[in-house]
Amino acid sequence: MRISHSTTNGEAYVHEIPQFGLGVFLMSEEGECKSACLAALEAGYTHIDTARAYSNEHEVGEALKESGTSREDVFLTTKLRRMHAIGYDEVLEHCQKSLEYLDTDYIDLYLVHAPPEDEAHREPVWRGMEYCLEQGWVKAIGVSNFGAHHLDMMRSYARYLPAVNQIEMNPWLQRPALRAATEAIGAKVMAYSPLARGHKLDDPALQVIAERLGCTPAQVAIKFCHEMGCITIPKSSKPERISENLASLDVDISSEMQAISALECGYISGWDPTSEP
Ligand SMILES: NC(=O)c1ccc[n+]([C@@H]2O[C@H](COP(=O)([O-])OP(=O)(O)OC[C@H]3O[C@@H](n4cnc5c(N)ncnc54)[C@H](OP(=O)(O)O)[C@@H]3O)[C@@H](O)[C@H]2O)c1
Repeated sequence: MRISHSTTNGEAYVHEIPQFGLGVFLMSEEGECKSACLAALEAGYTHIDTARAYSNEHEVGEALKESGTSREDVFLTTKLRRMHAIGYDEVLEHCQKSLEYLDTDYIDLYLVHAPPEDEAHREPVWRGMEYCLEQGWVKAIGVSNFGAHHLDMMRSYARYLPAVNQIEMNPWLQRPALRAATEAIGAKVMAYSPLARGHKLDDPALQVIAERLGCTPAQVAIKFCHEMGCITIPKSSKPERISENLASLDVDISSEMQAISALECGYISGWDPTSEP
């Protein structure tokens, strides 16, 4: 999938992003993230989504080196921590730290983890992100947990609009309006918590759909996000689930799209900064 930054003069900074990847949130035991990344790279994953807030960027970097995979064959997404999103200089400083932890020369996609809490910080933070892009420290910049009003505000101060908005999206929280607002500024939707953090996998309606399709409930939820055009990043620390989740891409769910869409219930599995001022 292609991501790009639209500017008033046309498009610049075009980059290819794999539409599927491994999320590494809540891998708090030492070595857990590294093992999961190694299992994922072995299984054929080409995209890893981490964040400064997850305190495991160094394990992602170690896994990449240990796996022997070439840097250009893996897409690395990481995020500017919310507590660091307080000014232009802080963005530059923390981007450099992420590069150091990941032990890499460039980050493929760098995201503002959530709208900076102080509204006055939003413009200087984005200016810092744009600087990182222009320096080549990162190949693409984007946001996460931005609501439609946050995205609209960006039109007044961004020179490069975001390439991606990473938001919670899954069969139980489909967000058609926010997905449309994201696409309207030229960004792609990246679906986090595609399994609603595992909270809904025993949903009887989902289990019936999975039985009809001959796949697992997790595969239905993941393939749904993918089918809706989202970049999809399920998390698992278990090698067998890491493979199961990747195999969801081969499941044909077209006959069940209506039934899956009917699972919508506005369920938020974690936090939701998109509704903040
Ligand atoms: N930008 C943001 O604010 C934000 C917020 C949340 C998440 N994210 C990103 O999105 C990624 C994914 O979201 P998430 O970690 O919140 O949750 P998720 O991917 O929706 O669900 C992960 C949970 O589901 C379980 N699981 C995974 N595969 C399974 C399978 N095949 N069968 C049964 N259970 C399965 C995992 O357990 P096991 O590990 O034990 O398999 C874990 O408990 C994160 O890792 C992170 O990279 C971003």
